[in-house]
Order: sequence, then structure tokens, then C-alpha cells
Amino acid sequence: MNIYDNYDSYIMKTYTRVKPAFVKGEGSWLFDKDGNKYLDLFPGWGTGLLGHCHPKVVKAIKDQAEKLIHLPNNYYNELQPELAELVIKHSFPGKIFFCNSGAEAIEGSMKVARNWGKNQAKTKYKFITTTNSFHGRTFGALTATAQEKYQAPFTPLVPGFTYVPYNDITAMEQTIDDETVAVILEPVQGEGGVNIPTKEYMTKLRQLCTDRGCLLICDEVQTGVGRTGTWFGYQNFDITPDIMAVAKIAGSGAPIGMIVAKPEIADLMQPGYHGSTYGGNPLVCAASIATFKTIEEDCLLGKAKDLKTKFDEKAQALKAKYPDKVKEYRGLGAIYGIELTKPGASISAYCLENKVLCNCTHNVVLRFLPSALLTDEELTLAFKVIDEAIEKL
Ligand SMILES: Cc1ncc(COP(=O)(O)O)c(C=O)c1O
Repeated sequence: MNIYDNYDSYIMKTYTRVKPAFVKGEGSWLFDKDGNKYLDLFPGWGTGLLGHCHPKVVKAIKDQAEKLIHLPNNYYNELQPELAELVIKHSFPGKIFFCNSGAEAIEGSMKVARNWGKNQAKTKYKFITTTNSFHGRTFGALTATAQEKYQAPFTPLVPGFTYVPYNDITAMEQTIDDETVAVILEPVQGEGGVNIPTKEYMTKLRQLCTDRGCLLICDEVQTGVGRTGTWFGYQNFDITPDIMAVAKIAGSGAPIGMIVAKPEIADLMQPGYHGSTYGGNPLVCAASIATFKTIEEDCLLGKAKDLKTKFDEKAQALKAKYPDKVKEYRGLGAIYGIELTKPGASISAYCLENKVLCNCTHNVVLRFLPSALLTDEELTLAFKVIDEAIEKL
């Protein structure tokens, strides 16, 4: 039986998978077992700001694996505080809970917020999220994800959630009430189509949450750890959340998530309120520390911003060349969306055939979350293929 038949026999069909099976990654490249190479503009589904298998991350994982892979959270683990210090240094004063994924980071953030809410007033428990948001697949995170297509097979969902349009401060003003415990927001909506809010909206939203006595939770799962050219997405708007959820780039592919909360909120969590067998184990902490240090040492925030200048130029040229096919281009740091006037699935399929990997989200938005280390030659090659694909659309 070959690998594809085995998938059919033994693996749930929850993903639309594309061939080939990849066996090796290096920088912005993936290799199949025959040695064919593919240029990956979406490495690790948003985890790969450093590209695949960055040597510093690989070394950290190897070294740690030889010492201690796992340690449960009833013992002190010397890597957790080292990592937490790095995260706090680049974000806001707070305390961290380590988990294993983005959905868990959101799920836990909501528990931390509800616990805070209980300490304010018994009836402060409701969450507000935004339409076209994406926060994950577990029940709480799925309920926060205001997209019917993900929710429909699993109703009834968790009670206490309301949805408002993104980047619409009036809708938010009309919806927050005394029972609202938190607003949950992506600083840039990724899966929803690379939607970038205005600074005015973000500033007003921050003020509104403070004035109305509810928390602002930023979902930094996709935007965090350098993706937007700042350490965290919220920093583009000169605001600070009360809680943030982090994952993806944080581990460069090693499964780590983080709930970061201001100390006065974090300190309300008591022993036994939350837990995770694997959360923040030595292996993933080593990968994460290496990721944070590499971003610092190799100036990857600056590199993400430089990449944007080059990506902008090429994407704008495409928009000018195909005005009837490209509706809009949006980008921040190293997250980019090219919105088409028609469904884009055939474009990502054409790119795959021509050994360039990209993603089409929200039906019409080509989404790119490349490594900040993408070279000029790689970018030129990528746009050659994207141009051909759009021409054929
Ligand atoms: C903004 C955002 N939040 C949460 C998640 C869920 O993360 P995970 O797939 O690690 O559970 C994602 C995943 O793409 C995401 O983009």
C-alpha cells in the first residue's frame, strides 16, 4: 500500500491535502522524496518566519533532546522562566501559561478572562468577537471563530458569544455591555483574508474596553513573534492588550502556545485552575528560546519590513497589470494578501503544479506568510509563477 492509500484507510478526512509528501525542509524550500524542490511561501502554515529547519533552532532541539525531552509541570523547568522573560521583554509586563497550540492559547485566554470576570461581578462572562475571525477549532475557540462554515457541523456551541463586524467601532460600542468580560481580536485577520484594521479603530477599541470595564484579548497566534514586522501585531497600533494568545512562530514548528496576561489578571489564577501535560516542556521551550534569540540576533523584524517593501512593489505591479483580476493588495511586515475578483483556488493549484506553494483563503484572497529570510531571487521566482497563474485566471 502506498502512503496515499494508507491515508485513505487510516486517517480522518478533515484536511484537503495536496501531493506530494514532503520529506525535508530547508529555508524557504520543501523537498519530496525524489528530490524535487518547492518554493514555500507559506512555510509551516504561518510558523516559519525563520523558514524550515533553521540551523539555530535545529541545534537547540538536538541539544535539548539529548538532555531532557519532557518534564511535567509539577516540577520546576529552568527553560520556562528564560523563555517567559524573553516574551515579556518584547511585549508587556505580564505572566505566562504555556500550552501547545493556538486554539489552546485562545481557550486558556478565555478561561483567564472569565476567572477575572468572576472577580469583578458574577455576571461578567460574555465574549465579543468579529465576523470572519479565526481563533481555532476547539469548542470555545470555534465559538469565538465567527464563521458559520466552521461552526455548522458542531452546534450547539458555547453560550455567551456575540459577533460584530471587524474594524467597526460603532458596532463594538453598541454591543459591549456590563456582562462583557472581553473582546477577542486578531490585530490582522489572517484566515479571514488578511484584513488590516485602522489605527484609529484599534486605539478607540482599546479605550472602549478600558472605559467599559472589559478586557481586550489579542489573538497573536498568526500575527505574533515578528510576523508583522514588530514583535507582536498589536504594537503596530500603539496599544497594549490585557491578555494575548501566542503560538505558531513562537516554536518555529515545535508545538508551543502561550497565554500572556497582565500580572493582576494572571495572579487570579490559582493552582488547579488550568493545566497541560506537555505545555512548555523543555524540548519546545528550547525551540522557542532559539526562535526568539534568532529573531533578535539576525534582525528579522527589520528583514520582515524590508521584505514588505519588495513584496509591495511586485504585488502592486500585478494589480496594475491585471486590474480586472486583482481587486486589492494588503500587507504588513511579512503577511500579505492579494485579493482577486474571482475565486483563487485555481491559482494556488497552478502555483503548486509549478512548484511554488501559497495559500488561498476566504475564497478570493491569495495569502502569503513567507520566511523573513526569503531572498530576492526566491521572490522573483515566486512572482514569475504567480503572474503566470493570474494571467490564466
Ligand atoms: C489567528 C489564529 N488563532 C488561532 C489559530 C489556531 O491555532 P492552532 O491551529 O495552532 O490551534 C490560528 C490558526 O491558524 C490562527 O490563525
